[in-house]
This record gives sequence, structure tokens and C-alpha cells, in this order.
Amino acid sequence: MKQQLENIQQRALESLEAASTPAELEELRVKWLGKKGELTAVLKMMGKLSAEERPVMGQLANTVRAQIEGKLEERKTAIHAAALEAKLADEAVDVTIPGDSVSLGHQHPMNIVLQQIKDTFVGMGYTIVEGPEVELASYNFTRLNIGEGHPSRDRSETFYFTDDDSVLLRTQTSPMQIRFMETHKPPLCMLAPGRVFRKDEADATHSPMFHQIEGLVVDEHITMGDLKGALVAIMRQIYGENSVMRFRPHHFPFTEPSCEMDMQCHKCHGTGEVDGQVCSTCHGEGWIELLGAGMVHPDVLRGCGIDPEKYSGFAFGMGLERMAMGRMKINDLRLIFDNDVRFLNQF
Ligand code: DAH
Repeated sequence: MKQQLENIQQRALESLEAASTPAELEELRVKWLGKKGELTAVLKMMGKLSAEERPVMGQLANTVRAQIEGKLEERKTAIHAAALEAKLADEAVDVTIPGDSVSLGHQHPMNIVLQQIKDTFVGMGYTIVEGPEVELASYNFTRLNIGEGHPSRDRSETFYFTDDDSVLLRTQTSPMQIRFMETHKPPLCMLAPGRVFRKDEADATHSPMFHQIEGLVVDEHITMGDLKGALVAIMRQIYGENSVMRFRPHHFPFTEPSCEMDMQCHKCHGTGEVDGQVCSTCHGEGWIELLGAGMVHPDVLRGCGIDPEKYSGFAFGMGLERMAMGRMKINDLRLIFDNDVRFLNQF
């Protein structure tokens, strides 16, 4: 029996030493110490031993059991530690690996120019306001002296929401003149940038949606000289001190007199030609039209409760894309709206 016990001890300890997972350990525990295990089987035969032998063998059996249990604990701890070690190694984070770089964006070229224009006008005392893109025809047309039957009211020109043509997508920012004069008394000085919409096919210089910046100043003794002063100041700010401008007489229903302002073409410097070819930027004109302007029509002032005998004012409306194209030397309007990063990254 002594031999049997020693044999069990030796094999048990060897098998435990070889085990490498908790599951294997459990299997071996059952095999060696369980109720149907080998040690139990030997102990069951104790009864057959003599009275002298029994305590000796009993003690030996206890020692064997203690040895196996001790080994089990030892292996359990070792396997657990090894597993933890492996897990840590597996999940290790190498803090020295360079991270994924996140490329930073920047302001859109059109917004860069818009911000510059806003800053300049704020510096001259203008209040920046915004108004609805879905507008009433009365604000967009009627109260600006644009009567029934005017071509710009045509359904082929303007997006309408209602059958009676009373609600539309604003075709210009000029309705903001009316909205501002309704709610403010002179002296007033406002700048209203925003989107406008027209039924235009998109090409290099047209888009069904574009941006305008409306300006309005009303006070006593405002003259065309004030208008020129303000516009020349903004153009010098945007295009540089040496930029060349011209004012041309024009007609707008809501200003009298009215004019348009052109900037000398930045590509051909006014000659209309580049390398013997017609300049593609100004189509040979030598000038690029930037805005419409004029002295606010007395009827428009009166319609907003402002006495035209006492007050006068000037207004202007410029195309932001046009300004940005000139400023950034962009030759196709569509590039501004495509938002291709290869284009945007250049600014
Ligand atoms: N709203 C006009 C347009 O879209 C531009 C314009 C002309 C605005 C004269 C004005 C102005 O304020 O006085 O063509």
C-alpha cells in the first residue's frame, strides 16, 4: 500500500506539473482527489490493514493528499499569473507609435472674403443683420418699386411657393432694406449678407443659389458722395490700395439715381486681352461688374414711414461670389460650391 501511495503521489505531482490550463487542473483534481479518484480508492482499502499499520498508512495517505493539494494550489497560482502576463502582453499599448493625424480644415474662401467685408463695414459703424430666405413678394418686389409684370417676377426667373405668387425664395437681399427700415428709425446703417435664389442654369458665372451683401444707410444729408466713399473704401480694403474702380449709370426700380460699380479686371488689367487672346475672365471687357447701388427711391422711404423730404439714403447690393472670385483669382463659380478639398486647400 505504501508503494501504491507513493506511486500515486509521484504520478499526480508529475501530471499537475504538466498541466497548463485551469480546466486541466480541475480534471486532475477530480482524477486524484475526487470521490472516485485513485487516492480515495486506496483509502477504501484501509479497513483491511492491521491495527499497527493503519495509523502509519493513514498518516502517509494524509501526507500524499496534502502534497497533491499543495501542488494544485501552486499550479493554480502559476497558471493564473501566466495568463495575466499573456493578457497584459497581448493588450500592451505602445505609446510611442505615431498617432493617426487629423487634418485641420480652415475657413472656406468665400467665408474668408465675407468675414473681411463684414469686418470693414462693422468698422464703419454698420449693423450686421440676417433675414428670411423664404420671403413675401411684397418685400422682394412690390415695396421695392418692382411692379406687376416686371420681368424678374416671371415664373421662369423666380422660385415661387404659392399659386398666387405671394411667397417665394428671395431673388435678392434688397428686401432686407424694407425689413430694416420697418423696424429702425434713421439714422440707420445696416449690412445684410445672405443667400439668394434664381432660376439660372449653373455655368462658370451663374448658379441658382448665390450670395449677396446688401447695404443701406439712411440719415439726413446723405449723398451719392457718401455712397462712393463707402464703396471705394471697401474695395481698397479687399483688393488693395491701388485697385481701379469705375461707376456707371444704371437703372434699378428702388434707387434713383442708380449705378453699377465695376472693378478693373485683375487678369488683363483692363486691356481685355491676355497674350493676344480675349481675356477669359472679363470676356474682353476689361472690367468686372461687382455691384448695383444708388440713392434710395423716395417712394421706398415713404413706404417704410420715413420722410424723404427730411431723410435720404444710399443702398448697394454686391455679389459675394464675384468678390471672392476677384479676390482669390478663381475663374469658375462652380468651384466655390463643389467643396473639393484639393481646391479648398489652396486658400
Ligand atoms: N438687388 C440688386 C440685384 O440683385 C442689386 C442692387 C442694386 C442692390 C441697387 C441695391 C441697389 O441695394 O441699390 O441686382
